[in-house]
Parts: sequence; C-alpha cells; structure tokens
Amino acid sequence: MDVDVTRPIGILDSGVGGLSLLRAIQAELPRENLLYVADSGYAPYGDKTPAWISARSAQVVSYLVEQQCKAVVIACNTITAVAVSELRDSFTIPIIAIEPAIKPAVAMTQSGVIAVMATTRTLHSESLQLLRKRYAAGVEVLFVPCPGLADKVESGDLHSSDVEQLLRNLLMPALCKGMDTLVLGCTHYPFLLDSIQRLVGPAVQIIDPSAAVAAEVGRRLRALDLLSSQQTQGALAFCSSATPDNARNIMSTLLGQSLSVAALPD
Ligand code: DGL
Repeated sequence: MDVDVTRPIGILDSGVGGLSLLRAIQAELPRENLLYVADSGYAPYGDKTPAWISARSAQVVSYLVEQQCKAVVIACNTITAVAVSELRDSFTIPIIAIEPAIKPAVAMTQSGVIAVMATTRTLHSESLQLLRKRYAAGVEVLFVPCPGLADKVESGDLHSSDVEQLLRNLLMPALCKGMDTLVLGCTHYPFLLDSIQRLVGPAVQIIDPSAAVAAEVGRRLRALDLLSSQQTQGALAFCSSATPDNARNIMSTLLGQSLSVAALPD
C-alpha cells in the first residue's frame, strides 16, 4: 500500500526545547508538514526515572501515530538515551533520534578536552557511556549535568542574571580544565547559545547537532521514499500538555512567530 507522503513528520520533546530541532528540520525540508508535541506539562524529563520516561514517551509516540505521522523525530536527548531502543521495538514507524554529538566534538578538539552539557538522566545513561567508549578514546570527556537549566528555557527565561549565573557555575570548571569544544546535549540549550558562547569565549567551539540531525531526517525519508511531494511550504502544527496560554506564549517567543497550540489529549 502506498503511503501518503504529505502526512506530517511528528516531532516530540519533553517540552519546548525540541523547537530548536524543528527549526532546523523546517530549514532542511521546507515542504514537509510538521506536528510538534511539547510535553511541557510533565517537563523536565531529565530528573525522572527511566521507567517513567519510557512509558510516557511511548504514550506520546502512540499519539503521533494516531495523528497519521509518517515518521517520528525524537527531539529530546533524554528520551533517546533512555528509551529509543524500546520505542523502535514497539513501533513500526521510522524513528530518528537526536543524541549528544560526541563524535564530531572529538574530531574538532585541539586541546583533547571536550565537554557535554546535558540532563543528569542523559549523562547517567548506558548509551552515553557507549558513545564515549566508541568515539572518544584518547580524549577527555567532561560531563556537565545541568539540572534546572531546561526549566529556565521552559519558563521563557533566556537572558536573566540567574541564567547567566547558573551557566557560569556549570561551565567554569570545564573551562578551567582546558575544554575547547562543547556539545549541547539537550535540545533546550541552543536557545541559550549566545549566553553560553559569551561565557566560554570565542575560542570554544559549541556544537548544536540540530542541522546534522535534520539532514539525517532528510536522508532517512529519501531512502524510504517518504519525502513530501507537495510543491508548497509545509504546514506547522503544535500541541502541548502545558496550559494553552503559557504554551502559546513561550513557543511563539522561542520561534519568533505567533503560533496556535492545541492541547495534548490525556
Ligand atoms: N530537551 C530535553 C533533552 O534534549 C531535556 C529537557 C528535560 O529534562 O526535560 O534532553
């Protein structure tokens, strides 16, 4: 049976952070219809148990399947770290998932010291240990857990002195240890890129993997013959488990355009 290639790509995150990846997918694949789910009513995922994250992300993926998505993009490093294998076992829909860009960071470092900013849950996962083992032999990898940082982005607080102070406390130790390459291992953090770059200085290269993941989404869809055939700009739809007004305000601010956001059914 032929699949209707104009069906949307579903994108999910624990909250608004995955909009950083949505932006990149929209730039890479402008004719695709995108359906974004922000599970902000339950964010952050980074402090929750693996069992909870697995069960909840399976519910959200089921919702995207019900909405007739042709593929799902996990725009949350924490879900990838904990649950992507189970999700791929449970669903037949293609699932493309973001993960911390350790391999490119290792290729770029001159000092031999890289750092990964991510949630505690991502940094404690077996899959991240595997990534480190596989790609970072001979390089020092500093893990920088950032509890509370995704919450700042969730609440729309991107530039306050609190955020600056939190970033300084988190990143100064890695700078002192000679880090010259910094991986943004949580999709919320690209929204803090300017503040992070200012803090670490121009000599530190910051890796946001969004564009590379968006390119991978394109490759996967092409290989599966699922790229949209429509000739016009794709439509964007948003849905959130947070209170609708909050969700609309924050998501509109982050994307720099006025959006309407539907409620994610329970
Ligand atoms: N955006 C999620 C990620 O990429 C994390 C935020 C959270 O803790 O919910 O890991």
